[in-house]
Amino acid sequence: SQLNQFCEVGTGYGEAGCGIPVSSSKLLIKGGTVVNAHHQEVADVYVEDGIIVAVKPNLKVADDVKVLDATGKFVMPGGIDPHTHLAISFMNTEAIDDFFSGQAAALAGGTTMHIDFVMPVNGNLTAGLQAYEKKAKNSCMDYGFHVAITKWDEEVSKEMEIMVKERGINSFKFFMAYKGFVMVNDELLLQGFKRCKSLGALAMVHAENGDAVFEGQNRMIELGITGPEGHALSRPPVLEGEATARAIRLASFVNTPLYVVHVMSIDAMEEIARARKSGQRVIGEPIISGLVLDDSKLWDPDFTTASKYVMSPPIRASGHDKALQAALSTGVLQLVGTDHCTFNSTQKALGIDDFRKIPNGVNGIEERMHLVWDTMVESGQISVTDFVRVTSTECAKIFNIYPRKGAILPGSDADIIIFNPNSSFEISARSHHSRSDTNVYEGKKGKGKVEVTIAGGRVVWENGELKVVPGSGKYIKMPPFSYLFNGINKADESYLSSLNAPVHRSKSTT
Ligand code: URP
Ligand code: ZN
Ligand code: ZN
Ligand code: ZN
Repeated sequence: SQLNQFCEVGTGYGEAGCGIPVSSSKLLIKGGTVVNAHHQEVADVYVEDGIIVAVKPNLKVADDVKVLDATGKFVMPGGIDPHTHLAISFMNTEAIDDFFSGQAAALAGGTTMHIDFVMPVNGNLTAGLQAYEKKAKNSCMDYGFHVAITKWDEEVSKEMEIMVKERGINSFKFFMAYKGFVMVNDELLLQGFKRCKSLGALAMVHAENGDAVFEGQNRMIELGITGPEGHALSRPPVLEGEATARAIRLASFVNTPLYVVHVMSIDAMEEIARARKSGQRVIGEPIISGLVLDDSKLWDPDFTTASKYVMSPPIRASGHDKALQAALSTGVLQLVGTDHCTFNSTQKALGIDDFRKIPNGVNGIEERMHLVWDTMVESGQISVTDFVRVTSTECAKIFNIYPRKGAILPGSDADIIIFNPNSSFEISARSHHSRSDTNVYEGKKGKGKVEVTIAGGRVVWENGELKVVPGSGKYIKMPPFSYLFNGINKADESYLSSLNAPVHRSKSTT
């Protein structure tokens, strides 16, 4: 663990234990290339009290302002990770990165906000949110919540309204896998999608056919395959493609936008491509493990090595990664998450005799920005402005917090990174900031480096050192009816008016 290198300075503003000012409430970032999703230009960025005040060339400021020189570097919005599971209770254990260590790792990698998934308590959303508010108390960066729906009744339906209208939630996730645990059936999906639509909340799905996964797991066990490779073999891409297609068609039937989390396969990606081509509002989120890794290590004879790659849907055979990159570069997929959900090698060993018991999840919250840069920008597949879009801006727009987040504009939150494209990074569990003792990107090197991270106007990562303040992160409420809902009612109206053609009607309805 790298936690001992943090300067924990209690709550509130102040000086770090080592004497370095943790925050100057006024900051000037000079001479960098400021990159937004829509535009890039050489400009200075002036920050006061956590908010960007001005973005202009050659700003003049008073002497008491801390100045950061960004000449020759990119000044970009901090990353927003749409998909994390910090401190989640899952598969008989709890993820080892909590809101403090996971966020510290994020900040060291240039991510300044994440959206985590609240797991209900016995299906109850309010109790779930309460538990997550407690987990998030020590936050050192801003965060928001999605809420998972794991059962259906009047109570849940009412709670969804409270979540949206009072608690800052604008998205709900449905698991189509994890049978006997959190999996939902099509009836629940339909009810849930309808409710999401009426509230202006985005429906999200973990798309794998959980019944078939269960069957596939039994098949492997009957064949005597109990190791980590059984995980991949038991839930092939066809099961992800089927569930993705089903969720897309049900969302189309309800006429509500859909967000498919962790798109891991060509099969799922092609369903999304088809739906988008037909005009349907479907968002596809690849995650960094799916973009840069393949499944080969799952066959490694060393259990510790193989088991660290176990996540769901599985990391796929070589070829899926390149296809997902291409889909991201052409806009078929829109934003990159991580699904950061870390278990150390002792926790992974819960499944040493049975792959079904290996806690599912991989790291990525610290690595995402560097790996997207190296894989997508350095390779020439996307531009620098696209980098900002897929790592930050699109997430802010989808979850309706743009331009407070996801932009370097006057009035936006001062969540900013200074990125040196001529430097380099190298990933190792020895130097990362996650509490896990392993890293699925161990040994990966590439071009580009997040040299400075500013979160809420505070310099939290500089010269390879973290200066994070537990309790300084804010909960970001996300309002309903994002741009994805624009015009949805018009489509419903034209559908209804099409029913005015002569049809047989019940006499009791008008
Ligand atoms: O393996 C994974 N993905 N673990 C986290 C839970 C989920 O399905 O997203
Ligand atoms: Zn220090
Ligand atoms: Zn999932
Ligand atoms: Zn997840």
